[in-house]
Amino acid sequence: MNLLQTSLGRLPLFNPVTVASGTFGTEYGSFYDLNRLGAYVSKTITNDPKAGNPCPRLFETEAGLLNSIGLQNPGIDLFIKEHLPLLREKLSIPIIVSFSGSSVSEFRRMLIQLDNCVGISAYEVNISCPNVENEGIAFGVDAGIVSELVKTLRAETERELIIKLSPNVTDIASIAKSAEESGADSLALINTVFGMAIDPKTGKSRIKRGIAGYSGPAIKPIALANVYKVAQAVQIPILAMGGISTWQDALEFFYAGASAIAVGTASFYDPLAPIRCLEGLETYLKDTDIPLCDLIGSISF
Ligand SMILES: Cc1cc2nc3c(=O)[nH]c(=O)nc-3n(C[C@H](O)[C@H](O)[C@H](O)COP(=O)(O)O)c2cc1C
Repeated sequence: MNLLQTSLGRLPLFNPVTVASGTFGTEYGSFYDLNRLGAYVSKTITNDPKAGNPCPRLFETEAGLLNSIGLQNPGIDLFIKEHLPLLREKLSIPIIVSFSGSSVSEFRRMLIQLDNCVGISAYEVNISCPNVENEGIAFGVDAGIVSELVKTLRAETERELIIKLSPNVTDIASIAKSAEESGADSLALINTVFGMAIDPKTGKSRIKRGIAGYSGPAIKPIALANVYKVAQAVQIPILAMGGISTWQDALEFFYAGASAIAVGTASFYDPLAPIRCLEGLETYLKDTDIPLCDLIGSISF
């Protein structure tokens, strides 16, 4: 019996360890066989190529990482033409494509274009980006817009639809419920938390654009609280991320209600972190003879 077996809605996973969008590329294949992962998640792609934000756009703090990469990516056409075929060639695990649009209609056009491509198992819809039709306010902060977006995308695909939530909202549970009611198969959380750093000697922002996204060990308790809150509010599965670097971290997220996890920033300082998580979980579940599915949401007080 595979004690690690899990699923994200309509997508079965051989094991629950995936990688967080934007923190992982196939170059990690020089450290281990990427096909040992439960799934691969691409960097978010946008309709047009993006050069990203000006540097400095990364800063390491005492317990985390500030980033303001600005969704640097080759754009959907080049992704489909060159990147996706390479992913298909290298990977036999499910490929989850993360994408983002600047309007509901752009999200829809991108999904239709991706749906015509073979070899994609699921979409992770990044809704932390600005909506040009709503004064540039992020899609993910408004339950009504999330509902409109998810209904629009649901109508166009039979593939697994994962909605990636931002923690930078007043009530993440209401956003999660809106996504569920509108047809999302599962939810991914959390994206980065707003953060900032200033050089105390000069008063200069450490990041050119000022406010950045914060990730890594510092945000684990925040991620855990959000996952727990969302798990209490919805029935659909959760792919959890936010400061996970060890198998014990992963276990905390399963207890809080996650069905699968993603390792993000940890891969930057320990390229083997996802595999160490996987091996640690495998040993733990074997030693205790508990299938992962029995742990999910089984937090006690
Ligand atoms: C350098 C960097 C780039 C990221 N790029 C993306 C991205 O393109 N799309 C996305 O949905 N999340 C992106 N994220 C957020 C991560 O996928 C993840 O949600 C977040 O970092 C929390 O997980 P972690 O603490 O394990 O890194 C990025 C994070 C970092 C650090």
